[in-house]
Amino acid sequence: MNLEKFPEVDSLLSQLRLIDFKVFTDQEFTIYPGTTAIVGPNGSGKTSILEAIEFALFRQVTRKEKKVPRVEDLIHHGRRKAIVELEFRAPINRRTYKVKRSIHPGETNADLFEESQKEPFASGAKKVDEEIIKLVGMNRHAFSALTYVRQGEIDRLSRMTPKTRRTDLFNMMGLGIYDKTGDRVQKQIRDLRKQVALLEETQARLESIRSHLPSDEELDSALGSLGRLVEETGKSRDLDTIKEVLQKVEHSLSEVKQQLYSPEMTVEYEELKEESVIAKYLKQVLETVPDIAEAQLRPHIRSEAREIFRSIFGDRYSDLIIDDDYEISLFDLRGNKVSLSAASGGEDVCVNFALRVAVNTALQKHSVTGPPPGLIILDEPGAGLDSQRRMWLPEAIAGLKSVDQVIVVTHMEEMRGSAQRVISLTPQGKDRQPIVEEIE
Ligand SMILES: Nc1ncnc2c1ncn2[C@@H]1O[C@H](COP(=O)(O)OP(=O)(O)OP(=O)(O)O)[C@@H](O)[C@H]1O
Ligand SMILES: [Mg+2]
Repeated sequence: MNLEKFPEVDSLLSQLRLIDFKVFTDQEFTIYPGTTAIVGPNGSGKTSILEAIEFALFRQVTRKEKKVPRVEDLIHHGRRKAIVELEFRAPINRRTYKVKRSIHPGETNADLFEESQKEPFASGAKKVDEEIIKLVGMNRHAFSALTYVRQGEIDRLSRMTPKTRRTDLFNMMGLGIYDKTGDRVQKQIRDLRKQVALLEETQARLESIRSHLPSDEELDSALGSLGRLVEETGKSRDLDTIKEVLQKVEHSLSEVKQQLYSPEMTVEYEELKEESVIAKYLKQVLETVPDIAEAQLRPHIRSEAREIFRSIFGDRYSDLIIDDDYEISLFDLRGNKVSLSAASGGEDVCVNFALRVAVNTALQKHSVTGPPPGLIILDEPGAGLDSQRRMWLPEAIAGLKSVDQVIVVTHMEEMRGSAQRVISLTPQGKDRQPIVEEIE
C-alpha cells in the first residue's frame, strides 16, 4: 500500500487484506484515521473484519470471553487455507509494519515485515507474536480490555466483581505485565528454593556418610600401625587385604570431601541463596509498582469517567463514583446512591462506555508505560440503548478526541452520519463474498 497517500496517518491500523477468511474470499480494506463505521445486515461479515484484525495481531479470536479453540474454522468453507495481512503503524517507533498470517488445518504461520522490505524480519507464529506485543505496546489481554469491545460485551466491566474489574483495568493500563512477571518471578523463587533444598539434602547426606567414615587422623594412624606391623612381621596376604580395605576407605573419604567442598556445594550454593533473596525483593517491587502507577492514574480515570457519564445521563443522574476497590456507584438527581447492579441495561452500557473511554483518555494523557495505541473497536455498542441515548452515542464516539482511530460496527443509521467513513457490506448469498463499498 502507498502510505504517501495519507502521510498524516499516525493511527495504528492502515490496511487489511483477507483471503478465504470466513465470508471473504479476497478483500482489501483501507482503514483510515478517524471514525469508520462498518454497516451491513446480519451475517454479512462485519464482526469477521474485527476478528481478522485480532487474529492478525494476536493469533487468536475471542468470542464470549473465550478463545475460539479451532482457528481453522475461520478458513472459508471448502478452502484449504486462510490468509490475513494487516499493515499497522507501531506506536513505539512510528514505523509501518505488515504482519501476514496464514491458517492451515492444525497450524498457523506468520511473517512480519518492516515497511517495503521483501524479507520478513521475524518468522514463525511465536516469534511474530512476541515482536507484535513489543511494537504495539499491548498484549491480547490489554487489547481485549482496552481496545476491542466485542459484540454483546459492552457491559462486561460492570458485570464483573470489583476484583476482576480491577484486574481488567490493570490490563487496560498496561500494568498486567507486572502481574505476569511477578508470577514468573514467583516460579523462579520456587525453583531456586527447590535447588537450594536439593543441595542442602545432598550436603546432609555427604556429611552423614563422612561421619560414618574414619577421620583423616584415624585413617593416618591406622595406616601407620599397619606399616609398623609390616615392618615387624613382614609382608603377608592378610596384611595386604587390610591395606587394600584401608586404601578403599581413604579413597571414599577423599571422594566425599571432594564433593562436599566442590564449587557446586560451596560457591554455587551461596549464589543460589543470594539469588533467591534478590528474587524475593524483586517480587516485592513488582507488587508495588503497579499499585503506585494505578494510584496515580486512578483520579484521572475517575474524573474522566464521571464527566463522560454526566454528559450522557445528566438528566437522570448527578454522579458516578468509582471507589478504591473499583466498586462503581451512581447517584440520582436527589443524591440517592444507586448501585450499578440496579442500573438499567442502557445505563450500564453508558457506564461501560464512559469507563473505557475514561481509561483510554487518562492513559493517553498520563500513562506511565507509554500511551496505548489510539484505537477503539466497538461491535454494536448501541445494542440496548433507547432512541434518545442512541442519538447520543454517535456524538460520543465522534467526540473521542484522544483516540486516533475508532471502528464501530453498527446497525444504527445514526452512526452513518457521524462517521468519517462507512464500509458497507452487502451479502451476495452462499459462496460469494459480500460486496464492499467504502463511502466517505
Ligand atoms: N469458515 C467460514 N466460511 C464461510 N462463512 C463463514 C465461516 N464461518 C462463519 N461464516 C459465516 O460468516 C458470516 C458472518 O459472520 P459475522 O459474525 O461476521 O456477521 P456480522 O455481520 O457480524 O453479523 P451480525 O450483525 O449478526 O453480528 C456468518 O453468516 C457465518 O455463517
Ligand atoms: Mg456481528
